[in-house]
Amino acid sequence: MKGIVLAGGSGTRLHPMTLAASKQLLPVYDKPMVYYPLSTLMLAGIRDILLISTPEDLPQFRRLLGSGARFGVRFDYAEQPKPEGIAQAFLIGRDWIGGDACALALGDNLIHGDHLSATLRIAASRPVGATVFAYEVRDPERYGVVSFDADGRAVDIVEKPAVPASNWAVTGLYFYDARVSEIAGTIRPSARGELEITDLNRVYLEAHTLRVEKLSRGCAWLDAGTPDSLLQAATFVQTIQSRTGMLVGCPEEVAFRMGFIDAETLRQHAAGLGKTELGRVLGELAVGEHD
Ligand code: DAU
Repeated sequence: MKGIVLAGGSGTRLHPMTLAASKQLLPVYDKPMVYYPLSTLMLAGIRDILLISTPEDLPQFRRLLGSGARFGVRFDYAEQPKPEGIAQAFLIGRDWIGGDACALALGDNLIHGDHLSATLRIAASRPVGATVFAYEVRDPERYGVVSFDADGRAVDIVEKPAVPASNWAVTGLYFYDARVSEIAGTIRPSARGELEITDLNRVYLEAHTLRVEKLSRGCAWLDAGTPDSLLQAATFVQTIQSRTGMLVGCPEEVAFRMGFIDAETLRQHAAGLGKTELGRVLGELAVGEHD
């Protein structure tokens, strides 16, 4: 399976912070925002990753991420000239995907929690259909909202409903089978002029091939698209890291734990991070001081 990180858009809800910088390169505590969705894809076992961003911002992503060798993965890059919808990622990436299955992670989403790698690897291994994740929130009207029947089966998904049918928001992490680009080519722009990811998911839902997994209370899902949610995400990462000494959303760590890089490579990366706390924790990991 391949994976796309979508990191474009204009970030208007974060102006003026995003007037001269990409939203997904802003810091979430001690790492650039894009590290978090990137780590999520890597935890699913994905090593072929396409980063999509605006023509203006793409050079900065290349500078940060390079070929992917640092994380034991391969990065490719593609432009989205205008923010014409999340599902457009599968049209931009059509040739790159080349008939494989493909996951998508939104560049401003952070997921952290229990047994996440196992859950993600199962989603990535399903040969047919799509898998999305639902998370119970207080403000579902900000998101795609999924409703369930009495047996817990997903029956409908609506994008930003004025009156949500449930509190279950669809997170910005999606796993699709090899038909995804073909299906994305059949959907039409919504009233706001975007190719909606919710419309793509509805095609799978109507074909009874959409699996909606509820994320447990042991998981945290955050987005970082507004000043408040950006601060909350940073505080969350800082709290977990300082309390446990473990890292959240660190691709070097994920690469090592997944066996994409060896201990010596990790040690070199840790040394390159100098006197930072991140460098110290990675250095300890490289010499086996953490489980
Ligand atoms: O965060 C999860 C939610 O993400 C889902 O529940 C919704 O169903 C889904 O539509 C999306 O809602 P948002 O309102 O958060 O979408 P937004 O337009 O903010 O885009 C999400 C990210 O994707 C953001 O980092 C910018 C990027 N993006 C978005 C569009 C529309 C692009 O790179 N290109 C685009 O064309």
